[in-house]
Amino acid sequence: MASKKVIKLLNEQIANEGDFSQLYLAMAVWAEANGFMGTAKFMFRQAEEERGHMFKFVRFLLEIGEQAEVPAVKEPKASYKDIQEIFEAALKHEQFITASIYKIMSEARESNDYAVTSFLQWFVNEQVEEESNVKQVLDIIRLAGKVSLYLADKEIGAFGAGK
Ligand SMILES: [Fe+2]
Ligand SMILES: [Fe+2]
Repeated sequence: MASKKVIKLLNEQIANEGDFSQLYLAMAVWAEANGFMGTAKFMFRQAEEERGHMFKFVRFLLEIGEQAEVPAVKEPKASYKDIQEIFEAALKHEQFITASIYKIMSEARESNDYAVTSFLQWFVNEQVEEESNVKQVLDIIRLAGKVSLYLADKEIGAFGAGK
């Protein structure tokens, strides 16, 4: 039987994943409204994934015969400066989620709760992948930023030509 503390943390994680799903959804909406269709596609997919994570926690709590608490929907941040700000915020949130998964994991390990540690292992692996994906996107954005500097430099070179 899982400890009260672990059950509480698992329930908090339902809320964390749910909030994150809403945040990604708001990012998708901002991106599409501002013409960034690729980012919108990425974020709509992420919003569904996080909702799937939330469901996994709900299902797991029910399977072990515990109460699963369905949280209220929080209003997420809806406006952004650009897609770099979006992905920087996404990385921060993924890191927050990783830390919260680790916290539940260490609580579960301390109480020799093998069912919970086994369940959480999937999330540990998932977070490695998720953080890596967002970091890769940030690299793409940084490189794209250099492309526009390169194009600007070419323009500067041509500036005043023929004067
Ligand atoms: Fe997640
Ligand atoms: Fe995630």
